[in-house]
Amino acid sequence: MSTDTTPGRIDHDRRSFRYFRNAVERHWDPHEIGLAPDREAIREVPEPAFDGLRETLALFGAGEEAVTEDLSPLGVVLEDVADQLFVTTQLYEEAKHADFFDRYWRSVIAPEEERRGLGPTSPTDDRWFSDPYDELFERNETAMHRLLREDTPENRALAYCHYHMAIEGILAQTGYYGVQRNFSGEYAELPQLPGLVEGFSRIRSDEGRHVGFGMWKLETLVREEDVDPTLIEDTVGELAMFVQGIVGESTEEGAIGVDDETLVGYAAEKHHDRMTQIVDDSELPDVEELVALEE
Ligand SMILES: [Fe+2]
Ligand SMILES: [Fe+2]
Repeated sequence: MSTDTTPGRIDHDRRSFRYFRNAVERHWDPHEIGLAPDREAIREVPEPAFDGLRETLALFGAGEEAVTEDLSPLGVVLEDVADQLFVTTQLYEEAKHADFFDRYWRSVIAPEEERRGLGPTSPTDDRWFSDPYDELFERNETAMHRLLREDTPENRALAYCHYHMAIEGILAQTGYYGVQRNFSGEYAELPQLPGLVEGFSRIRSDEGRHVGFGMWKLETLVREEDVDPTLIEDTVGELAMFVQGIVGESTEEGAIGVDDETLVGYAAEKHHDRMTQIVDDSELPDVEELVALEE
């Protein structure tokens, strides 16, 4: 009988293996989240905030769909088996996130649009997407697909900068923060949406692990492959400008809830944290900390 100390194919001490196991142990199903209370409560969301929520959900849904496809090149180029196992869980989780956003739109947003006489909108409608959003995701696609043609340490670093740092580590984290604060009961004028908040909490926990993997990879590329840390700083710095453009315009005129300045400040703080964590190995948080929910 084999035990954990028997030599095997997979390095059990590798960070990516621990992350992979953490993903398996924390498995959840987006269809098990109850949405009936949200269908009732969403009636109380005032018009500008309802518009803002639709936009946020459309952006997240599109983002999750895009990242599932754009992550695949990484699974193709990584050589280590534990790394491949981890990327497999990440792909699966991005697919679940896309499923959650689609389900929320179909069962909560669409019926409420009809009740309000707004006419059905599609989460894929151009109206929800701004130029900085399109630009950021196009650049991400280019950075990820470049790995298939030219797999170099620098190009790997660029891929992690786009996907794991800018999109997951800064943009998405800021989006979760805004939605969770708005619909957790903090604002008297906004109802609680428990299904939405639960889904976002689960997704955010998964994303903590994804971001941790990207930061670990960047830190390793700098330490072992001589990737210049200024390449990382410059790239993430440039992409952070697009993030600021997206979140700085995300709140609808007159909407109650977290305002644009707070979101921009939060994004800047996340940017700073990520950069500190990758230049110093000892700063990389443990996986339990990554998946725990920040206040
Ligand atoms: Fe995701
Ligand atoms: Fe992710």
